[in-house]
Amino acid sequence: MCGIFCLLSRSAAPEGRDQAVLEPLQRRGPDSSRDVSVTGTDSGYRCLFSAHVLHMRGLLTPQPLQDAAGNVLLWNGEIFGGLPVDPDQNDTAVLSQRLQACGTAAEILSVLSAVRGPWAFVYHQRAAECLWFGRDFFGRRSLLWSFAAGTMTLTSVAAHSPASDPRSWQEVPAAGVFRVDLKEFARSDSVSLEIFPWDHPNIPSTSPESLPIYCLVETNPAGLAMSAPVPPLNESLPASSPDPPTESRLSVRDLDELLAGSARPDEAKRLIRVLSEAVRRRVQAPPPLAGSASVAVLFSGGIDSMVLAALADRHVPAQHPIDLLNVAFRLQEPKNHNKKRNKDSPNSGPTAPRTFSPFDVPDRLTGRAGLEELRGLNPERRWNFVEINVTPEELQEARRQRIRHLVLPLDSVLDDSIGCAIWFAARGAGTVMEDGGPRPFTSSAKVVLTGIGADEQLAGYSRHRVRFQAAGLRALLAELSMELGRISSRNLGRDDRVVGDQGKEARFPYLDEDVVSHLSSLPVWLKADLSLPRGVGEKLLLRSAARQLGLGPSAVLPKRAVQFGSRVAKMEDRREKASDKCRRLLTGFWLK
Ligand SMILES: *[C@@H]1O[C@H](CO)[C@@H](O)[C@H](O)[C@H]1NC(C)=O
Ligand SMILES: *[C@@H]1O[C@H](CO)[C@@H](O)[C@H](O)[C@H]1NC(C)=O
Repeated sequence: MCGIFCLLSRSAAPEGRDQAVLEPLQRRGPDSSRDVSVTGTDSGYRCLFSAHVLHMRGLLTPQPLQDAAGNVLLWNGEIFGGLPVDPDQNDTAVLSQRLQACGTAAEILSVLSAVRGPWAFVYHQRAAECLWFGRDFFGRRSLLWSFAAGTMTLTSVAAHSPASDPRSWQEVPAAGVFRVDLKEFARSDSVSLEIFPWDHPNIPSTSPESLPIYCLVETNPAGLAMSAPVPPLNESLPASSPDPPTESRLSVRDLDELLAGSARPDEAKRLIRVLSEAVRRRVQAPPPLAGSASVAVLFSGGIDSMVLAALADRHVPAQHPIDLLNVAFRLQEPKNHNKKRNKDSPNSGPTAPRTFSPFDVPDRLTGRAGLEELRGLNPERRWNFVEINVTPEELQEARRQRIRHLVLPLDSVLDDSIGCAIWFAARGAGTVMEDGGPRPFTSSAKVVLTGIGADEQLAGYSRHRVRFQAAGLRALLAELSMELGRISSRNLGRDDRVVGDQGKEARFPYLDEDVVSHLSSLPVWLKADLSLPRGVGEKLLLRSAARQLGLGPSAVLPKRAVQFGSRVAKMEDRREKASDKCRRLLTGFWLK
């Protein structure tokens, strides 16, 4: 993970950038910081490149990386495949060499579209006097842009500051790779961008109404495209229409019976194979400091995070711990609650807690149960179940200082809730239970696995059920296909910024190119069966995989979104709608 920044301006313009973004960039890349400035030979432009590197493995490779020909590369990415990178080589250095060998646009595109793994990059190609930038197909790394007369700024993360209107920031659409002709830029007031789009039906729009002013985008005249790493969604429909939905909840045994009779055991095996490989590529981390983990999982105990933890267990050496990060926001004590009377109250059975525990939110309870399942799966492993408890005061302070900057340019109540939950979870500061008592604990794992992408591909959200019930499988397919196209702007940029702020790297195994290709090629009825009840029908294929991995009750937990499971959403005004603009994210300057 790195923080990258580029300011393009006329050489006549005064030097200087908004210092407010420097700090969050440095938090993303605490291990090395450097600036490089480039000016046009006779044409009047200037590029200021600033890079802040988080060191993950191998030798530290400082950036901006300038090659012998004077090209400059800013790379916030990981090459997990596609281009050969030997164990003693650095991926940033390898990419820089590959790009240096390119002359034409087609050659640059073919190098970039070969990369498997997340990325955002900026590249100054000196001889051609142009600036390239963009994000990977899914948008797994953040990149924002902002334009003003005669300038363009690109940055991993922005900040509220008196110097800039927060509304000027937008996410760079993960629609393809962009190129600026710098000689032409020096002659004009606005920035003309050529786009080299991904050749895929579901890419985000770059239509004029979705673009900021001072920015023009046109498709490159040669019609060149980036070859997409995944095929379009399989849209085939079953011969007979599926049964109407049933209402009851099913048990693990019901699930097993159901799965035994279908063709799914083999499909589940295939899914485990690709997903396991995706996790393996993502947990190849530096050997951890003695006794501490190098890999953590954002962990609710739900099926997505349980499967990731079970697969990480296969690939992380047995003597290393794995950290399970579980976040809870303090519950309000119920009004009529009375600790003394509680144990006699009629509805407290033998398992009901005797005293009110303000952090026993739903995700904490499922997390503890999940921990027991994982211990059963591998009793030798040290699983650090990190209980991260957040009070309203801590929440407000962190939001004001950090999170509201990171969420930018997103601004809804939902972005606020999820941004806060993930920021605290990724920080990993809490307690672990040891010999009956809690011990303060902070996770030092730089790799943070998250389960995002499972719901979008396997029909896990309740809105999928609503679509299916209202308009059938074809409508469900349309919904799924739309969601994968917008996951970059809805989730991934934000999650990358929020996790990166902890000097850690979010990794998304469900969005590995091979996993998405595999799932996209399957017909929808193999992935989900929404005629079955909640907790079974959605993500049915993943549930079947979870059973084969040896997981138990967690395989039939219904979806619970993090903002509800962690109860962060409960801390605030309950009349708000998730899509409302969130006033808590705004500052004095721009609050009207
Ligand atoms: C390359 O170097 C960067 C910065 O030091 C580091 O974060 C990254 O993990 C390295 N990659 C490899 C494959 O060694
Ligand atoms: C879509 O799924 C059907 C049914 O399994 C299969 O026959 C077909 O080959 C798949 N299509 C693609 C493009 O993968």
